[in-house]
Amino acid sequence: MKPTIAPYPLTRFRRARQSPAIRGLVRENNLTVDDLIWPVFVRDGEGIEEPVPSMPGVVRRSVDLIEKAAIEAQALGIPAICIFPYTDPSLKTEDCAEAWNPDNLSNRAIRAIKNAAPDIAVMTDVALDPYNINGHDGYVVDGQIVNDQTVEALVKMTLAQADAGADIIGPSDMMDGRVGEMRKALEGAGHQNVMILSYAAKYASAFYGPFRDAVGASGALTGDKKTYQMDPANSDEALRLIERDLTEGADMVMIKPGMPYLDICRRVKDTFGAPTYAYQVSGEYAMIQAAANNGWIDGEKVMLESLMAFKRAGCDGVLTYFAPRVAQLLQG
Ligand code: PBG
Repeated sequence: MKPTIAPYPLTRFRRARQSPAIRGLVRENNLTVDDLIWPVFVRDGEGIEEPVPSMPGVVRRSVDLIEKAAIEAQALGIPAICIFPYTDPSLKTEDCAEAWNPDNLSNRAIRAIKNAAPDIAVMTDVALDPYNINGHDGYVVDGQIVNDQTVEALVKMTLAQADAGADIIGPSDMMDGRVGEMRKALEGAGHQNVMILSYAAKYASAFYGPFRDAVGASGALTGDKKTYQMDPANSDEALRLIERDLTEGADMVMIKPGMPYLDICRRVKDTFGAPTYAYQVSGEYAMIQAAANNGWIDGEKVMLESLMAFKRAGCDGVLTYFAPRVAQLLQG
């Protein structure tokens, strides 16, 4: 872009900000309900809605109440819901077999939602951490997270989710080569239309803390995830990972966390032009919500501004715990 040397009247930028109507005319980005994917936590039982202490306003729901929430989300026009299971500690094992149990919590929730709210797309999480005795996303052998053996397990998990009716598979494990193997398996099983939204650039972030409480993984986790999740210092590496996952068959890609990584979102969108999503993660949500609950910020305005930032950075959509509240605001 050439620097503009304009005569004085043209430098009156405030002309374009003079009223809501004019501001609307020149607005470059918009936040709509189509941009939202709503992550929800599911737990065992019936009629249960239990608050997650580190995420004020967020609850874990039993399957029947997830079903109800999905019906409401569908009515609000939210296009997709993403399921995360709070798995009973007694089901966590070294071989993580619960992960591909066709009747595990997550797969029961998928079926219930597809049955009750068929127009909302159901996204899943593929990683072993809810089922792993040591809280890691992959198998741990002699203190190492082993890649290829984990990928085999992730493929079984993927097929169980697709069989249950999942529309979008979300590998969040950061193992190498999993997208290609998952795509091959889905094709082989007649699930050609099941999409893969790859958590392609997922950083080893402290912003996931509240989520690990929500799914009951904090207590289990030994060590950190730095040998598979990305170093927050890197940016070129994110582009190489995104390219790799798109080549292996991902339909959409994700950057995670969101707000601290908007520079990555912009680079990814500019480089590939593929459907690009950001995850406004649990720690981002908790920070905004905590400050709002203390009366230190206007929670509603900060929520909308934080989500608009993703659009401005080039994202096609955002996974956000705020989804129903945003949808309500945008509708009203
Ligand atoms: C697990 C997973 C995590 C999140 C989504 N899937 C946590 C982690 O990698 O430890 C984080 C979501 C959030 O913080 O909101 N594979």
